[in-house]
Amino acid sequence: MKNFTKLGDVSNIQEWLQQAKEIKKNPFSHKAFGTDKTLGLVFFNPSLRTRMSTQKAAMNLGMNTMVMNISNDGWAIELEDGTVMNEGSQEHIKEAAGVLSQYCDIIGIRTFASLSNQLEDYQEKILSKFIQYALVPVVSLESAIRHPLQSFADLITIEEQKNTARPKVVLSWAPHPKPLPQAVANSFVEWVKETDADLVIANPEGFDLSEEFTEGVFVMHDQDEAFKGADFIYAKNWSSFSAYGKTTEAHNDWIITEKKMALTKNAKFMHCLPVRRNVVVSDEVIDGANSLVLEQANNRTYAAQTVILKFLKNEN
Ligand code: CP
Repeated sequence: MKNFTKLGDVSNIQEWLQQAKEIKKNPFSHKAFGTDKTLGLVFFNPSLRTRMSTQKAAMNLGMNTMVMNISNDGWAIELEDGTVMNEGSQEHIKEAAGVLSQYCDIIGIRTFASLSNQLEDYQEKILSKFIQYALVPVVSLESAIRHPLQSFADLITIEEQKNTARPKVVLSWAPHPKPLPQAVANSFVEWVKETDADLVIANPEGFDLSEEFTEGVFVMHDQDEAFKGADFIYAKNWSSFSAYGKTTEAHNDWIITEKKMALTKNAKFMHCLPVRRNVVVSDEVIDGANSLVLEQANNRTYAAQTVILKFLKNEN
């Protein structure tokens, strides 16, 4: 594996899930692989879970970590080749990625979607440029269109919590006051499609995700119908793909409530966090016995640890 940015980088998802389970049981058993190695974590955007869980994963593996909030603390980065850099940008990504590679054995990078240029976002412009110039493996800590470490943690959580061999998993759009990227939703679909699950996406008209991700997945525009018989409800807001970056109709009635959860087969509630309470989901649901949000956050460590260990062992 050269880099970890998407499901396509995973050789065998069932084997990875098994390895994550073993790591969770015995998290300090691979320290020898990480000794004297350094993980660099570079954030263009804010983070709580990704930053802390990936650092913890590295520490569990005996690694050193260095973290940089590059947008706040670094020089303004130039992405284009051939630019005469006599305006805002001060450092080209070519040097930035190359220099970081001198200090780190593996680099994690987080870059959100601009939500202003769909083509560049869906080409993963910043991540791709960084990978092009990095001299060591790169792990996506969420890119413009995918969040693979979150999705891997979500699959670990579903695997641990499912009561049936083939659960019904509903990815439900939920309201949010600001346009958000599609990364978590895209990635969740990409990863769950590869498992033994009946995946349904529920979203209002006008909020269908890119066909690049939804091909072959049942998409419904009636949330109540979609919830019937569900074993897992995964709530997430995403902004419209077709009206890219635009603020569109609020659809506040898509909030996840106890009344809606009552339509399911006693489903577990999932969300990647952070979440706006009583906008996306009611207090009763997120604080209820079926809420898995903390389990998901906990599994972020073991997802990251599995990926980092694969690089340290030079495995796929
Ligand atoms: N779920 C997630 O990625 O959380 P952070 O943005 O806090 O890292």
